Amino acid sequence: MVYKVIQWGTGAMGSGMVKMMLDKPNYFKIVGGYKRREVKPKTDLGAVLGLGQKIGAYVFNDPAEALNRKADIVLHTTDSFTKNIYKELIAIAESGKNCITIAEEMSYPWAKEPQLAKKIDKAFIANGVTCLGTGVNPGFILDLVIVTLTGAMLSVDKIEAQRINDLSPFGDTVMKTQGVGTTPEQFQRGIEDGTIVGHIGFPESITMIANSLGWKLSEIRQTREPIISKVHRETPVVKVQPGMVAGCRHVGVGYVDGQPRITLVHPQQVHPHLEKVETGDYIKITGDPSINVSNVPELPGGKGTIAVTVNMIPHVVKAEPGLKTMLDLPVPSALMG
Ligand SMILES: NC(=O)c1ccc[n+]([C@@H]2O[C@H](COP(=O)([O-])OP(=O)(O)OC[C@H]3O[C@@H](n4cnc5c(N)ncnc54)[C@H](OP(=O)(O)O)[C@@H]3O)[C@@H](O)[C@H]2O)c1
Repeated sequence: MVYKVIQWGTGAMGSGMVKMMLDKPNYFKIVGGYKRREVKPKTDLGAVLGLGQKIGAYVFNDPAEALNRKADIVLHTTDSFTKNIYKELIAIAESGKNCITIAEEMSYPWAKEPQLAKKIDKAFIANGVTCLGTGVNPGFILDLVIVTLTGAMLSVDKIEAQRINDLSPFGDTVMKTQGVGTTPEQFQRGIEDGTIVGHIGFPESITMIANSLGWKLSEIRQTREPIISKVHRETPVVKVQPGMVAGCRHVGVGYVDGQPRITLVHPQQVHPHLEKVETGDYIKITGDPSINVSNVPELPGGKGTIAVTVNMIPHVVKAEPGLKTMLDLPVPSALMG
């Protein structure tokens, strides 16, 4: 089957997904796109994405016009928060199309937005289609992979996982939400007024892991600390002098009966190698038997998210209707053609 896809959002992730799908014409046909910023009528999606080639699908400013295309699925890649995209997801459901969104909160919306999750589930069921939230993190490396590893264990005592990554390829929005390039005082103020948030997704990943193990969480605690640079670091969008903030060390801990059972650590910074910090994903699960897995360097956030999303398309199109998480559907595998 060739899946007909509408691309909703043409930023870094959306354009990467379009490129991946164009390389696999035996699986995918792109039939349209939606872009918030104004484009001239009858603009080819390829031109908007700077592909240097037409792909034979228009990009629209009007969501209704984009959803008017005949398609199997919409890839939604614009925002992080369920409440911001809720109405768009309902419109996608009502157009009779399946959807995958990479909004971090949607990887497990039952954690922070259970009421909206219920409404989204109902809308997709009513229209006989499926919605999935996924991505590399949350959605894969610090939740689905951990849950999968516990499948080979007789019992689990506690989980400690760490993802050390390099923020250098990311744009201005990410630098601001991570506090990169601020002074320690500005960082503190940003944490207090909510403009610096660190990673989005710990409540979702921790709840997903706990629910799959049948652990009842009593509390989730999060801390965010500045990573202060000792050296000059620079990317195309930010400069960090020694003494300034190069990133954010975000820790999320899930407590069961007052005991810390799930600890996720995510230090994100620009150019970590300049201070001899190696990127990587590290998962340590204590139990019977204990499991210790390391992936060095990190699974890259961009390619990882693009691939997980596109590789899940066949599973989502074939799934039972409703709102699903990565725990509900078959595991993704690379679509090789
Ligand atoms: N779950 C995960 O693992 C994961 C991984 C990567 C990213 N994400 C999340 O996915 C989102 C997209 O990431 P990205 O790297 O592609 O970001 P990006 O490069 O900044 O692109 C965002 C795109 O969304 C569009 N957009 C923003 N607000 C919109 C709105 N209200 N309506 C329609 N379009 C809107 C922008 O459109 P214009 O260009 O028209 O302004 C832009 O094309 C972010 O929220 C990011 O945090 C999640």
